[in-house]
Amino acid sequence: MSASNSEDALKSALRSSVARGSMMNKEIKGLTLDEVRDALYTLLPDNPEFVRKHIIEPFYVSDDDYKKVYKSLAENLEAGLDDTKHHTATLKMWPSYVRDLPDGTETGTFLALDFGSHHLKAEVVSLDHGKYEVDSMNGFVPEKILLHGDGEKLFDYLANFLHRFLKRSGLLNTTDRLPLGFTFAFPCKRLAINKAILTRWTKNLHCDGVVGEDVVAMLQAAIERRGEMNIECVASVNDTVGTLMSGAQEDPKCAIGVILSKGVNACYMEQLEKVGTWTEKQSDLPNQVVIDTEWSEFGDDGCLDFFRNDYDKMIDENHHKGKAIFEKMISGQYLGEIVRLVLEKMNDSDVLFQDHWTKELGTRNRFYTKYVSEILSEEDIRFIHTRKVLEDLHVPLVVELECRVIHHICQIVSTRAATLVAIGIACLLDRINKSEAGIAVDGALYRFHPLFKDLLNAKIPQFLQTDKKFWLVQSADRSGKGAAMAAAVTERLHRKNDDSKQETVQENDKVTEVKNDEEPQNESSTNDESNTPVSEDTK
Ligand code: GLC
Repeated sequence: MSASNSEDALKSALRSSVARGSMMNKEIKGLTLDEVRDALYTLLPDNPEFVRKHIIEPFYVSDDDYKKVYKSLAENLEAGLDDTKHHTATLKMWPSYVRDLPDGTETGTFLALDFGSHHLKAEVVSLDHGKYEVDSMNGFVPEKILLHGDGEKLFDYLANFLHRFLKRSGLLNTTDRLPLGFTFAFPCKRLAINKAILTRWTKNLHCDGVVGEDVVAMLQAAIERRGEMNIECVASVNDTVGTLMSGAQEDPKCAIGVILSKGVNACYMEQLEKVGTWTEKQSDLPNQVVIDTEWSEFGDDGCLDFFRNDYDKMIDENHHKGKAIFEKMISGQYLGEIVRLVLEKMNDSDVLFQDHWTKELGTRNRFYTKYVSEILSEEDIRFIHTRKVLEDLHVPLVVELECRVIHHICQIVSTRAATLVAIGIACLLDRINKSEAGIAVDGALYRFHPLFKDLLNAKIPQFLQTDKKFWLVQSADRSGKGAAMAAAVTERLHRKNDDSKQETVQENDKVTEVKNDEEPQNESSTNDESNTPVSEDTK
């Protein structure tokens, strides 16, 4: 620590000894990372070596290292789109087959089913030229199905849930077919807007017989097995894509969708000529497609090892080893556990807790990420939230020192996570061919963590390499509405495509009729417009 830093730290210590009431805000809230570091040295004066080695060095990543992360991510995004590199690329950059965003003309009634892990949501969305009404029902998928069940059981569970919802909404046995948008928040290789092959389970799910299968066909088959529902699954999207669609419905300038929850991922609108893996023939659809980056897997090839710390490695050991390295430093599934591992290290090294350590604090994954959000929402000197959290973890006697230290650790761990997300968003902003864009964001980590939004706003510009204006849009109705929007846009584009095919057929018929009419007058006439000689057939 430099002399001036230690002086500051001393001042901070003096301040903290008289801290009361409004002083709290200055001491805990809004501290810079440097101030947090100094405060930790001050709070733990007998253990500077521990603080340096086990807290500061592991989480204080230099600007140069963060720039390396940016560069590596940019290369990985590019490789996933390149057909010569895609098969070995870490980021799969799956084209979603979503070719357009809502334009406000979408109209009709659409169903949505959102399945992203334990949480389940069904919705009926009535769209009327930009206005919409939503009726929804939430549910949970039991662990025994998610972790030990088989695919057919899982999809039967989803179909039963939909059945309950339709019954409640009076929509069973409709004469008209109900189009459904299915949000399936797992990595899928897509072969069409309604054909999605699950490449692997993430978020610690293990459900047999689904990897390698088309999840849309599995859902449709389960719907048919259940009966009484006239549903056709017309579109299936990743939750990031749903979030982008939902965000774009509110703000047409949205071009990027981000999910920050148990998993982290992003999608964005890409120009088709940049998607080397795109094999579809040209059509009348817009020359663009939304790409599901699946950036949770960034780092799975070891490219982030240069700054991963021992805590990250411990997390990796215990959850799908070697997979989703990026996600493990950011997501709601792991942030709380990272904080807990730091606290455990402090306890093991007799730096904190002494006889306050509990079985719960020592239990893997028991320090939930929602605790991190609650602790960082602390408003006053009494540490009401932190005390509640520690009581929940059965800590017998809560002391202020522990509250302060835990608060600082939550901030340090969260700041690294948000910085990594900011790098990801900056990379995508730099890729898109727009000078400004809205970024639709959804997920509990974003909605409930009190610092994430501000950290993103502050950090994205630090990494942007192009002159882009951006703003964050909190997607109002999660990814469910987005799936309904995807279904609606799909239907709109199909209709448009069918109409233009119809028009082409009619045009051709007209030309033929004209040619036939002209025939007696001029047997060797040519079609003036196209300058194509009249074929033998038309003569
Ligand atoms: C995981 C999934 C990804 C999903 C994300 C957010 O990373 O692999 O498909 O979008 O979680 O739910």
